[in-house]
Amino acid sequence: MSRELSTVSLRESRYKKLFMKNICTKLKPILSPKGSLPFYYSKEDLAVWKILLTQQLPLVRAVACPEYIEGLEKLNFLPDHIPSIDEMSKKLMQLSGWSLEPVDILVPSQAFFEMLAQKRYPTIRIIRRKEEINFYTNEAPDVFHEYFGHGPMLAHEKYSECMRLFGEYAQNCTDEILTKLNKIFWATFEFGLVKNNSGIKIYGAGILPSHQETMKIVNDNNLNLQKLDISTNLASSLQGNISQPIYYYVESLDCLHNIIRNDLYHLIKHG
Ligand SMILES: [Fe+2]
Repeated sequence: MSRELSTVSLRESRYKKLFMKNICTKLKPILSPKGSLPFYYSKEDLAVWKILLTQQLPLVRAVACPEYIEGLEKLNFLPDHIPSIDEMSKKLMQLSGWSLEPVDILVPSQAFFEMLAQKRYPTIRIIRRKEEINFYTNEAPDVFHEYFGHGPMLAHEKYSECMRLFGEYAQNCTDEILTKLNKIFWATFEFGLVKNNSGIKIYGAGILPSHQETMKIVNDNNLNLQKLDISTNLASSLQGNISQPIYYYVESLDCLHNIIRNDLYHLIKHG
């Protein structure tokens, strides 16, 4: 099946209608039902994957945090093969107990956090087009973002525990708290940096799969960097297809773990 056919069938079909009918109420209709059509990649899709992987691998090995690199080596992405959700889940399950769940559209916040609490990461399978190699402009993520951005950190036991905890704490929140949580998620798991005496390293899944974003962090001497303090009103844009106004950093991923375990818990309980 061509990319066009699979994308059209997924986006325009009953899944979208089901989602609109059930938005924010139940998780089940959002997930691709078991036995749904397998996802096929065209030659063009495979070429895009190969270009992205070949371009980003040497770059991220130099600028990503060690925990990400560790996970990346374990996942062992190959230029001529886009792994299936099942393949990725099998690897992640062995490494950290996580699985990936195919979804066709962005999952609403409450359902998204519910899945994180269950160590199930919702994963969009389409891949960007060739003209979007350097900076993906779609508001929804693509499979390269999901696998290459989130995969290595989900493979890391301690870091993936941060994400599970985040999901656990985020259950049954008010809309006001949910908005704050979205911004915190954005400032950390999507666009987070580690900054300490050794310099700046990247762990955010919104940066590492993007050549333009990664180069910006490496080359821009005027980056607006702030130490992460989740008790403040974060300036996350909540849009993956534009650069962030401020990048928030932690001194180590252990610090991130402490922030989520303690500060986030306090924020949710006391507002
Ligand atoms: Fe993401």
